[in-house]
Amino acid sequence: MSLKEQINILNVPNHIAIIMDGNGRWAKSQGMMRVFGHENGTKSVKTTIKASVRLGVKYLTLYAFSTENWNRPKLEVNALMRLLVKSLKAELPLFHKEKVRLNVIGEMESLPDKAKRQLNAAMEETAGYSEMTLTLALSYGSRQELVKTFQDIADKVKNNLISPHLITEEVIKEHLYTKSMPDVDLLIRTSGEQRISNFLLWQIAYAELYFLPVLWPDFTPEHLYEAILNYQQRERRFGKTSDQIT
Ligand code: IPE
Ligand code: IPE
Ligand code: MG
Repeated sequence: MSLKEQINILNVPNHIAIIMDGNGRWAKSQGMMRVFGHENGTKSVKTTIKASVRLGVKYLTLYAFSTENWNRPKLEVNALMRLLVKSLKAELPLFHKEKVRLNVIGEMESLPDKAKRQLNAAMEETAGYSEMTLTLALSYGSRQELVKTFQDIADKVKNNLISPHLITEEVIKEHLYTKSMPDVDLLIRTSGEQRISNFLLWQIAYAELYFLPVLWPDFTPEHLYEAILNYQQRERRFGKTSDQIT
């Protein structure tokens, strides 16, 4: 039986988030510039989107650029922004074909105008699709998201729109970029690093974590299937005892 066939289709993670890491090392290992790795990483993005739709994943969230990534050399940052514009243009037909709705989380204002315009247009064009929601985390940082959330809620308290004792987990969730999305079920990170790097801190509270040594440009649907199969072997207890679950 192939890996894909072994997957229990009734227990596919509803929301998969991926920290796509290792593009630079992949390029370096072949004596190429880091940007070459980013370019090749876009191929993995495409195959991962397709494979996720086929499996019935409803939410796929990809960490594409962090708030901290602005501190990289200007040359690399510019190349990444250009690549974003280029691959958005290239992948729009795929979104239409697969009925994928595009969504963005992060400080979109800080992106170049051209990228913003394209992202907004793509989000508008795909707003009616519901096969899968593809969220790109762009200029995203979880701490920045939480700071913004606290500021927005504090404003409401100040204007008597909400009283402090009515600030619940639900209210906080409603102020996050991810307000319309469910919590993450499975978080995957490629490249062998075992850290979160400021990604979705609130939203991964009960996510299953899966780290693999593969560098992002080498990531294939087979790796995704392996991650899902691994996820399906786990018991998600959410604080309860095993007996309560089964
Ligand atoms: C991930 O690959 C892509 C982004 C962070 C934009 P890296 O660029 O971090 O590659 P490594 O980790 O340096 O190999
Ligand atoms: C995390 O990768 C950000 C993205 C994948 C977009 P980094 O390569 O920036 O993370 P660190 O610096 O290794 O923690
Ligand atoms: Mg990295």
